[in-house]
Amino acid sequence: MSKILVTGGAGYIGTHTLVALAEAGFESVVIDDFSNSKPEALRRVSALAGREIPVMRADLRDAEALRRTFSEHTFDAVIHFAGLKAVGESVRIPLRYYDNNLVSTVRLLEAMEEHGCRRLVFSSSATVYGDPASLPLREEAPLSATSPYGRTKLMIEEMLRDLARASALKNDPPEGAWRIDALRYFNPVGAHESGQIGEDPNGVPNNLFPYLSQVAVGRLPELTVYGSDYPTPDGTGVRDYLHVMDLAEGHVAAVRHLLDESLPAPFAEAINLGTGSGISVVQAIRAFESASGKSIPVRVSERRPGDVAACYADPSKAARMLGWTARRNLAAMCEDTWRWQSRNPSGYA
Ligand code: NAD
Ligand code: WQD
Repeated sequence: MSKILVTGGAGYIGTHTLVALAEAGFESVVIDDFSNSKPEALRRVSALAGREIPVMRADLRDAEALRRTFSEHTFDAVIHFAGLKAVGESVRIPLRYYDNNLVSTVRLLEAMEEHGCRRLVFSSSATVYGDPASLPLREEAPLSATSPYGRTKLMIEEMLRDLARASALKNDPPEGAWRIDALRYFNPVGAHESGQIGEDPNGVPNNLFPYLSQVAVGRLPELTVYGSDYPTPDGTGVRDYLHVMDLAEGHVAAVRHLLDESLPAPFAEAINLGTGSGISVVQAIRAFESASGKSIPVRVSERRPGDVAACYADPSKAARMLGWTARRNLAAMCEDTWRWQSRNPSGYA
């Protein structure tokens, strides 16, 4: 059975991916410092997966902790979720983001080199496309970032491409060469169909779906719609919302891609994970109302600084390279978010 190290496995996308990995027959080990998650999330994952998932509570910047983990286990691949992700906070406290996201990635890559594990799935983001010049977004589109958070993703992608280049220069044999998939996620939403795990942000949510669901459950009074004068069909922002279980299955497909020894290596591929469809804020509100049976009070305000009008993927590279396409629709995203939120009104607390 292949063994996967999952950094940041206690977080939103990590927990769902652990369930998908277990279903696909992979063994996982988690490293997380619980800076943005709770141990309860992993207890529920173990129950869903039907087996205990070993957890190392550590900051990835701690080289000694990484060394211990890599000496105790032999990993076939690493999925690297750990990082800070709040765009607005990264503008206010940029050094926290550069320190956490960049230093932890360098330490992890060093440990992987040291222990001869050179297969990596990295959590990149559609934020690396900045303000898109044309849609849908293909992987070759120009890259730019509008926040320190986005710049950490761009810098890490460059770091990964450099590793693959260095591997080629050294003429590493195929089994020892870097194989990297940097997955550019669009907007992950939803929850596991069981309602046992889901997104549990600290404080007031920044993102649309957790905000919507907290209004529906009565934790927040109303939703603020940021801008209704965008050049989109109904004037509100358009995004490519993607069910988190589809995203989780995308990671399983990427791990299989990295383990495919028939592929020439080294490589460092950037791959979009999205549905390819754009949904507006108004469409998302309507779909959420119909899934939850609750009406969502709304107030329209100014545009949120840094937001783009529209952003959606061309997901054809993922279909071609990973054999992956998103299967779940907007109704399922809303129903599963609601099942999680209504059964766990205070999240994991
Ligand atoms: P999350 O905050 O729920 O999970 C991240 C996990 O990493 C948390 O459990 C946190 O405790 C842990 N962590 C953070 N810094 C750490 C460190 N130094 N050492 C050890 N553990 C650490 O976030 P998520 O939504 O699951 O996102 C996972 C990854 O995907 C992140 O890298 C994020 O930037 C990226 N991403 C997320 C989205 C999104 O909308 N959720 C979109 C695109 C990309
Ligand atoms: C979606 C739409 C808002 C909240 C962010 C990050 C991005 C990525 C995913 C990590 C927009 C509107 C939102 C609200 C609203 N994360 N909105 N009222 O901004 O596309 O992407 O998360 O990589 O980097 O920037 O997602 O969910 O915040 O917003 O009207 O209370 O909903 O204006 O049009 P976004 P979002």
